[in-house]
Amino acid sequence: MSLNQQARAILTGNDRGGYTLPTDGLYPFQWNWDASVTALGWMCFAPARAWEEMRWLFKGQWQGGPNDGFLAHIAFHAPSDSYFPGADEWGTDGAPGTEALRTRTSSISQPPLHATMVRWMWHRAQAISPQAAAEAAEQVRGLLPGLLAHHRWWYRARDPDRSGLVLNIHPWETGMDNSPAWDVPLARVPQTTRPYTRHDLGHVDASMRPPQSFYDRVVYLMDFNRAQDFDPVKILASCPYRVQDVGIISILQRAGIDLLALCAACAWDGDVQDLHAALARTHNAVEALWSTRWNQYVSRDAITGELLDVPTSSGLLGAYAGFRHDLGPTVAAWLAETPYALPSTRSGFPGFEPLRYWRGPVWQHVNMLIADGLQRQGHAHLAQAIQACSAALFDASGFHEYYDPLTGRGLGGRAFSWAAATCLHWTDGAMKKQAGGA
Ligand code: GLC
Repeated sequence: MSLNQQARAILTGNDRGGYTLPTDGLYPFQWNWDASVTALGWMCFAPARAWEEMRWLFKGQWQGGPNDGFLAHIAFHAPSDSYFPGADEWGTDGAPGTEALRTRTSSISQPPLHATMVRWMWHRAQAISPQAAAEAAEQVRGLLPGLLAHHRWWYRARDPDRSGLVLNIHPWETGMDNSPAWDVPLARVPQTTRPYTRHDLGHVDASMRPPQSFYDRVVYLMDFNRAQDFDPVKILASCPYRVQDVGIISILQRAGIDLLALCAACAWDGDVQDLHAALARTHNAVEALWSTRWNQYVSRDAITGELLDVPTSSGLLGAYAGFRHDLGPTVAAWLAETPYALPSTRSGFPGFEPLRYWRGPVWQHVNMLIADGLQRQGHAHLAQAIQACSAALFDASGFHEYYDPLTGRGLGGRAFSWAAATCLHWTDGAMKKQAGGA
């Protein structure tokens, strides 16, 4: 089978009829930012299925109440006991905003990639056929209210003071769960003493997964959220973990730009001035997150106000988000240090671990986003270099959750949807010229 056929087979194998598992066993539900990337992959060979993926994700969107527009990091469309924490653990049943939902969800969100992926999907549909383009236009119109509500949730619930820098209340909300950037703020979080059983170690070797002390703290934060009735005001007043993650901030910013472009293309007649204002605030405020030590953006501890001065790949998303600083020289330096694309943590940093979750391995979809930004910043050669590394990784190691940046070995879950989707959309011949889309 060609790589392209293998990638299609992975999406088809992980398809559960309307939504796609990241991988069977380890992740048995629909995940938020995975779904956006996966939809982009479906778009390459099954456009109708691609739009379905997005619609299913939004089935779990909370409506009304203080979390109106909230989109959870997991939508539990069907039961499974192979994952902890499952639907019962989050305690969201009956929470304000969930009354009309038929899908159970977690209580935290994930990087809001949706509007950007929807825009790329629409572009691809336009290249397929007039019929696909017409279907796409209709689908985009249908998704717009949910997308707008979701962006507004981020600004309202996670940046009520309008600082321009949304914060998050759980490392899982960043999608980059175990990043060394969260070590300092997470150390202040108490470790839960209640019993629970992890299931991840039954699927993947412990050397590639977070340690127990990490789990004790993320479970504490999950329970804390429930104890505050998921009320954003109460949570922001007292949550022991509050971080301004430059990854979420960059992804939200770019998605906001793409969302406004979608609104314009659809002649949307609602008022979107608030979103324009939010983009302008972030564009200015983010400069406070520039690290002169690492020449890139970094995250900030929102409780102490200290920079979390750790060089992670999320800080290279500034070009993708349209922020001011030129990321070209820094990315060139990273690329010279590791043979296989951009690791999640820079290899010279003392906390770099090439095998462990978000502390070093390569995530292919993050590379795709960074490359798109570099292309836009006028560094086409760097974008192509990243893409070539990614293509080599797929070729040599297939479709894994993540990869060792030093050897290229595939790690974590196998037959992974976002790896397959990234390969289909980005490194597949037809789209090479575009280096990532719109
Ligand atoms: C892990 C990752 C997260 C991803 C999820 C499903 O929790 O850290 O980013 O969304 O797995 O793939």
